[in-house]
Amino acid sequence: MRIGVLVSGTGTNLQALLDAQAAGALAPAELVVVIANVPDAPALDRARRAGVATEVVDHRGRARAAFEDALAEALARHRAEAVVLAGFMRILTAGFVDRYPQRIVNTHPSLLPAFPGRDAPAQALAYGVKLAGVTIHFVDATVDGGPIIAQAAVAVEDGDDARALHARIQREEHRLLPIVVQRLAAGRLSCQGRHVRSRAE
Ligand code: GRF
Repeated sequence: MRIGVLVSGTGTNLQALLDAQAAGALAPAELVVVIANVPDAPALDRARRAGVATEVVDHRGRARAAFEDALAEALARHRAEAVVLAGFMRILTAGFVDRYPQRIVNTHPSLLPAFPGRDAPAQALAYGVKLAGVTIHFVDATVDGGPIIAQAAVAVEDGDDARALHARIQREEHRLLPIVVQRLAAGRLSCQGRHVRSRAE
C-alpha cells in the first residue's frame, strides 16, 4: 500500500516510519511521498535523507478547499493510497477526508477523547491528570474524533513540564505508529462504527 505522509514540523514520527521502513518492518506499506504545508519543515530533510520524494503544498494564500485540492493532487501524483498525518497542523474538512475513507490515520499526544486540539500535553498537565498518553486514530471530519485504533498510556510525573511529558508520550507514539501503518497496509485493521479491530496476524 502506497502511503503519503503529511507533516508540518520536526518529523520525529515521520522518522519512526522511515526507520521502520529501512528495517523492513513497514511492508506491505511503502512511504512514497512526504508532503509539508510549511516550506522549511525539518521533516522534509528527514524524507530527503531517506530518499523519499517530498512536496510542499503551502496553505498560505490558498482558500481551504483549494489547499485540500492541491494536497489531494500531490498525493495522486505519487499514487498514494493512504495518508498518515504525522504532526500535520492543519484541520482537514470532509472535502478531503471523504476521498480516503478509513485510509487516513493521525497520531495525537493525549488519551482521546480527553484533550483534543493543540498543546494536548499542556492541557493534560493543567487539568492535573495522572495518566497521559497517545492515541492513533482514523481521521474523519471531526477534530481528533475519529475511531481509535491504538492507545498507550504514560505516567505524569511530579515536576513534569509540557516538554518532558510530550517527550515521554512521543516514545510511545514512535513505537505505535509504525505498527498501525503496517497493519493498515496489511489489511489487519477493520472498523465497524467507532470500533476498530487491530490484528497482529
Ligand atoms: C506529535 O506529538 C503528534 O502526536 C502531534 O504532533 C507531534 C508532532 O511531532 N500531532 P513530530 O513532528 O512527529 O516530531
